[in-house]
Amino acid sequence: MSELPPAAAIVLAAGGGTRMRSGTPKVLHTMCGRSLLGHVLAATDRVRPETTLVVVGAGRDAVERTLREHHPAVSSVVQLDQRGTGHALRLALQARPELAGTLLVLPGDAPLLTGETLGALLSEHSTRGNAATLLTAEVPDPSGYGRVVRSGGAVTAVVEHRDATSAEVAISEVATSVYAFEVAVLREALDDLGADNDQGEEYLTDVVGLLSRAALPVGAVLAPDWHETVGVNDRLQLATARALMRDRLLRHWMLGGVTVTDPGTTWLGVDVTFEPDSTVHQNTQLHGRTHLSSGAVIGPNVTLRDTWVGPAAHVINATCTGAEIGPEASVGPYTFLRPGTRLGPRAKVGGFVEVKAAEIGADSKVPHLSYVGDATIGERSNVGAATIFVNYDGREKHHTVVGDDVRIGSDTMLVAPVRVGDRAYTAAGSVIVNDVPAGALGVGRARQRNIEGWTDRKRGTQSAEHGNEQGAGQ
Ligand code: UD1
Ligand code: CA
Repeated sequence: MSELPPAAAIVLAAGGGTRMRSGTPKVLHTMCGRSLLGHVLAATDRVRPETTLVVVGAGRDAVERTLREHHPAVSSVVQLDQRGTGHALRLALQARPELAGTLLVLPGDAPLLTGETLGALLSEHSTRGNAATLLTAEVPDPSGYGRVVRSGGAVTAVVEHRDATSAEVAISEVATSVYAFEVAVLREALDDLGADNDQGEEYLTDVVGLLSRAALPVGAVLAPDWHETVGVNDRLQLATARALMRDRLLRHWMLGGVTVTDPGTTWLGVDVTFEPDSTVHQNTQLHGRTHLSSGAVIGPNVTLRDTWVGPAAHVINATCTGAEIGPEASVGPYTFLRPGTRLGPRAKVGGFVEVKAAEIGADSKVPHLSYVGDATIGERSNVGAATIFVNYDGREKHHTVVGDDVRIGSDTMLVAPVRVGDRAYTAAGSVIVNDVPAGALGVGRARQRNIEGWTDRKRGTQSAEHGNEQGAGQ
């Protein structure tokens, strides 16, 4: 961006968020994998302010914890009593007497703002040499927002909805709580703020009228798309904002070459990445640092978190967390991959299979009804239906190693720690507690014996029939 970076950005995030009716501070509610505040800070970062400050108050421990964790370069200023947006900014400036030059002010609850729009605001502000420049928006439903009052085209005031006259209520241009200010004039104006309004609060919006009356240059930039300026005050607006962010992310990826068969039922986070020619089918949710490689096809009904999907891999009806799915591998339906799962090229994990902390080598298969935990499986091996990797002895987890070209018979219990060598087999229904050497057959089950005539002796033909009748009557 060409505009000069602002000296500082201050995000107002101390409000109680009463309208959310929540135990969680409003700005920590999340959408698309990031808190509302995190979205605002991400947009702020794009204009490279020298310092970024967040005013915290309601729920400040939680907000400050989030800042330390995700935005360590950002510092906070405490507003103990939430006496309004003007009061919040005044406290922030009092805490930083050294701040001078241009200041960008943002609300913590406008998660759809973009760096481009903030950049446009700052360049208009510096080009015009304004004392204050507001970001405004033309919205279809201005209820609740502050209205922008103009006289002969120039902005003269912002009036809060609850304090507006009926003529002012009819104005559709609203204040977005995003401003560029010259710090020196702002400090003076904030000192003059009153609280003579419906809420008895010090409104930052009143600064606009004060500066205008002092004949200082006040300008405005109209947001190119009002959706960007949506403020989240309640959960309805949170859902609206989330859907808008989802649409924005999907639009970006679809134009980048990703097929999304049903955008309406596809959800994704801001850190998800795709390569062109990947496909996402309906009812799919992608979270965290999930990545889809070219040719990957996922869905319908897939939830992936922090999962890497290799080129041309297929995932259907599955939930995967912290998994790595190799090229051309196939997963699902009804499959649960947990952290530490690594599938090699062309590996297959099928229906009703759960895998955790296990590497399944190239061309190996676990097609049906199995649990694979804490294991290393080589290449071209097959794990029969209903096999369990018995990894837990009640105290500790142990590891199982299965070599290359192995055939694990159906319903095998592999009691870890245990090793099955290359080309070995296990007999169906075995409980394998000892290592099986390469090329051997491991049999670990009782030998079958048949007891001739047992049914007639123990049950009798009649009672067998009687049982059937009883069964039919139930
Ligand atoms: C505010 C504006 C309104 C504008 C709207 C845009 C004022 C008086 N009104 O109204 O003109 O149309 O934003 O979305 O500025 N906050 C503090 N300390 C406080 C009060 C608020 O830090 O004492 C923070 C909040 O956490 C929030 C931001 O300031 O992030 C805006 O406050 P909010 O109560 O949401 O203001 P709105 O009623 O939406
Ligand atoms: Ca708001």
